[in-house]
Amino acid sequence: MNLAGNTILITGGASGIGLALAERFLQAGSEVIICGRREDKLQEARQMYPTLHTRVCDLAQESERVSLVQWVCQEFPHLNVVINNAGIQKRTQLINTQEEWTAHQQEIAINLEAPIHLSMLSIPLLRQQPNAVLINITSGLAFAPAAFAPIYSATKAALHSFTLSLRHQLLPIGIQVVEIAPPAVNTDLGGPGLHTFGAPLDDFADAVMQRLQAGELEIGYGTSEIVRNASRAELNEAFSRINSR
Ligand SMILES: NC(=O)c1ccc[n+]([C@@H]2O[C@H](COP(=O)([O-])OP(=O)(O)OC[C@H]3O[C@@H](n4cnc5c(N)ncnc54)[C@H](OP(=O)(O)O)[C@@H]3O)[C@@H](O)[C@H]2O)c1
Repeated sequence: MNLAGNTILITGGASGIGLALAERFLQAGSEVIICGRREDKLQEARQMYPTLHTRVCDLAQESERVSLVQWVCQEFPHLNVVINNAGIQKRTQLINTQEEWTAHQQEIAINLEAPIHLSMLSIPLLRQQPNAVLINITSGLAFAPAAFAPIYSATKAALHSFTLSLRHQLLPIGIQVVEIAPPAVNTDLGGPGLHTFGAPLDDFADAVMQRLQAGELEIGYGTSEIVRNASRAELNEAFSRINSR
């Protein structure tokens, strides 16, 4: 894809991977809109990059997803790229859990329901644009799950599956569908201090931009590139390794 000249919506773009991609697309000459629940994080991002457009939005809520896309259609009728990046990761004990089901439902709503719904809501606008791209951020854990985050891993496996079907259905109407499956990357995912063992964010984001520019449709990095292409035996080995930590 061209890195310049796009109008791009990045969900969860005020921090981590979303912000790193937003910065790079802005520098390449694209217009970028980011959204998230925390107004202060959106403001911080706008202070760093005054040309960013921001919108407070809780993507766990169906009505907020609908009003986000209505607003974008009205304000940015040339929108041609949607990046479904927002996500949360919870460490979940399946035995004797003390948590209410609504907490788990929230993780499924943000990580899976929202990208599916936003993809479907965006198709009517994207299909009118000459260079339309829909990008879903999954995870290396879509291929080899982390047992400490079983619901998270399942949402990412389901989003990977949805992305394959989406790519197949949108091909005839000229919308490219890209999957980015990050490995562990140093961000605040799951809470500050939990993701400090991963790849440096800037290295990961630079590599992703290069591969987007090269036109790749499935992008991993480091260990996620390995599991993305692994055999069943190699996946079993990866599962043992991830879950022996
Ligand atoms: N970091 C990793 O190791 C890693 C590995 C594989 C995949 N990923 C995926 O990469 C994506 C980005 O994560 P990250 O690592 O950059 O973590 P992050 O810094 O925590 O970013 C997640 C973003 O999503 C937003 N978000 C969460 N819930 C939302 C909601 N209900 N509505 C709107 N926005 C919401 C957050 O903003 P608010 O809290 O303000 O809403 C935040 O800006 C996620 O999909 C994650 O699963 C990350």
